[in-house]
Amino acid sequence: MENRAPTNVPLHPLLAGRWSARAFDGERTIDGRTLRGLLEAAIWAPSSGNVQPWRFIAGLRGKDAEHQARWQAIFDGLEPGNQRWCDRSAALIVALAVPAFESGRAAGQPNGWARHDVGAAGLSMALQAHAVGLHSHPMAGFVPDKLRASLAIPESLDIVTVWSVGYPGDPDSLPEDLQRRELAPRTRRPLEEVVLAGL
Ligand SMILES: Cc1cc2nc3c(=O)[nH]c(=O)nc-3n(C[C@H](O)[C@H](O)[C@H](O)COP(=O)(O)O)c2cc1C
Repeated sequence: MENRAPTNVPLHPLLAGRWSARAFDGERTIDGRTLRGLLEAAIWAPSSGNVQPWRFIAGLRGKDAEHQARWQAIFDGLEPGNQRWCDRSAALIVALAVPAFESGRAAGQPNGWARHDVGAAGLSMALQAHAVGLHSHPMAGFVPDKLRASLAIPESLDIVTVWSVGYPGDPDSLPEDLQRRELAPRTRRPLEEVVLAGL
């Protein structure tokens, strides 16, 4: 299913076509090469000072025992509201930030742009996903302590988002309330509201 942005100005189809779907095909899996492509796209995002303050933990459903266990640990760390639709995700990817500079003159000082840069990497991954026919969906609805414990995430890293990725599925597979949200037109505040000057 598509849910193209009804833009007022024509955009590249990759930008207008990416959206946060919930209906995934539970029969299809993602192979390691495709996952590598997603993560490669992520690391080619821009970052302040090119410090690349992103880290990732990925689990592929049904690939091998290690991937499956990681997928399950990430799934178990999601809020119940997200577990309702993430059970068909082919990949669950945790995006982490390195919140302090690791080296150089500012070593140990907070990097105020770390989360910004992790967000940029996430969008880069989402666009690559869309380009190869996958859907993606970022989530803040997770239980940090649970993920930290089950995935052995050190305190030195911040958990920023969890991404669900998979092949498009049938919206009918979703509970009724989520089906309605899935089929709703996508909306944005108008440019006139968000561009404070310069439009
Ligand atoms: C940081 C972040 C956290 C989000 N958390 C959730 C979440 O926990 N559950 C969910 O269903 N969607 C979540 N979303 C998806 C947003 O609701 C979605 O991006 C927004 O409604 C715009 O829709 P679009 O991505 O289809 O354009 C999140 C998005 C972002 C960027």
